[in-house]
Amino acid sequence: MTADNSLHNGGLRTVVVPAAGLGTRFLPATKTVPKELLPVVDTPGIELIAREAAQAGASRMAVVTAPRKQGIMAYFDRDELLESTLESRGKTAQLEKVQAVNTLVDAVAVNQDRPLGLGHAVGCAESALDDDEDCFAVLLPDDLVLPFGVLNEMLEVRRRFGGTVLCGFEVPEDEVSNYGVFDLEETDDSAGSQVRKVRGMVEKPDAEDAPSTVVAAGRYLLDRTIFDALRRIEPGKGGELQLTDAIELLIEEGHPVHVFIHQGGRHDLGNPGGYIRACVDFALNDDTYGPSLRQWLGNRLSADAVSHAEVPAE
Ligand code: UTP
Repeated sequence: MTADNSLHNGGLRTVVVPAAGLGTRFLPATKTVPKELLPVVDTPGIELIAREAAQAGASRMAVVTAPRKQGIMAYFDRDELLESTLESRGKTAQLEKVQAVNTLVDAVAVNQDRPLGLGHAVGCAESALDDDEDCFAVLLPDDLVLPFGVLNEMLEVRRRFGGTVLCGFEVPEDEVSNYGVFDLEETDDSAGSQVRKVRGMVEKPDAEDAPSTVVAAGRYLLDRTIFDALRRIEPGKGGELQLTDAIELLIEEGHPVHVFIHQGGRHDLGNPGGYIRACVDFALNDDTYGPSLRQWLGNRLSADAVSHAEVPAE
């Protein structure tokens, strides 16, 4: 069993990354390529998540995978032939890129045989935690929360209030109906404008029924009691266990649940529209690809541009 000091200073040891979903919004690509391996410029989303986990001080990443998505764990294996070939050819920069993922976190696989929902996926990860870990984080790999650092803020909220800490974003009122929306109240001390107590959550409400304009993001700092709550909730539609139902149960039973309202950006890598934005955003910041992309986009967006990007549908 791993022994480190992270928990003794209120830190984080394990992040759970549920990656066993079907990825239907990204078909046909996800028929064979897990969406977590699709590259943002040249780096798979799952490696960006590993970087975020390492930055928050986590040493272990429990990746929940499905039998048909074994490529995700293969990404964390060393490829000695590739590495020695790059080395002998003097391709140092490429070698460093290939090796980087192995220095971040210790990735361990957790199997979810059938896609029975996010709550079920998180429940599968219980055995990956050490006995003395009383909290862990869940990072949804298709939700890039930027800039990195929100987990550190959430850990600070847990140090102050205990319990479970969620991550939220303010959105314009006319966008709330696309998201899970928090029902919030002020905290009972001066925790600052970015922390609220959570009373509940409403999934995709009409704008006029929304309890707030703070919506849920894919970062959770969960108290270990979540596993017990997951065992006590009923499956919803499609037999899926919802993580939010287990969190609601904890709230009903008086367990403290707070949200940290992140003031940054996010990209949804789970659908082509969000993924393309992420690629463009990251590529524009890239020294190699940024300048020419910027120029090309300028030309492409001009009124008289002609597109050649048409291929037959079948
Ligand atoms: P999503 O619903 O966003 O992802 O689940 P999905 O099911 O892969 O994609 P679509 O909706 O069919 O396009 C949120 C996260 O939870 C994981 C997914 O892999 C994703 O990272 N998940 C979901 C599981 O690990 N197991 C499940 O049973 C369901």
